[in-house]
Amino acid sequence: MIGIIGAMAVEVEGLIAAMEQKQAETVSRVTFWRGTLSGVDCVVAQCGAGKVNSALCAQTMILKYGASPVINTGVAGGVGSRDVRIGDLVVATAVLQHDYDTTPIDGDQGRCLPILGRERLETDARVSEILADCAREAYGGVHRGLIATGDQFISGKERLHEIARRTGALACEMEGGSIGQACALADVPFAVLRAISDNADDNAVDDFPRFARESAEKSVALLLKALPRL
Ligand code: ADE
Repeated sequence: MIGIIGAMAVEVEGLIAAMEQKQAETVSRVTFWRGTLSGVDCVVAQCGAGKVNSALCAQTMILKYGASPVINTGVAGGVGSRDVRIGDLVVATAVLQHDYDTTPIDGDQGRCLPILGRERLETDARVSEILADCAREAYGGVHRGLIATGDQFISGKERLHEIARRTGALACEMEGGSIGQACALADVPFAVLRAISDNADDNAVDDFPRFARESAEKSVALLLKALPRL
């Protein structure tokens, strides 16, 4: 059973529309759609934005529906100085939470997640490479690298550059790192596929509503192509 999570309606509605033999069940106010996508058993949910919503959703998918792997699809802000542009696809090699910080009391260790003891969580190499191959075939290219997650919509060069300089991230969003954390704690493989909707800079507030739909649908279309290979 493959779990697929998107935060916003536009990030999952194409999947729910394409799902066959679908059944819906609501748990903790989130609706989980079970059925087949491209002939593959899947469970799809719209989790709502942010780290808490997405982690809870991932854990429910794992514990209640046996999801493995879990794939996070959606849009992200691209780090333009790393050549990541609106409309580009990014498949994460790893995720981190840029706003997790206990350095005032823990020093160098203060960016490491409790229990897991590390800052970066590696995505599943096999699933991620299949997603990336499909992106190369369908769109002629894909970015591979770190995605930075936090409970913030990034809309200014200063904050973006601080995150990019400190972490080396290619893109920022609000769920991949926390879905990764829930999956890592449960030893479930995960992947993060994002299409860029804005540059997380001073234009992001205008770009996001302009490009989110088109980019989110690109990520969904790619996922539908990739599912039978997973
Ligand atoms: N998702 C899409 N664009 C984003 C941004 N600029 N910051 C955080 N999450 C995003």
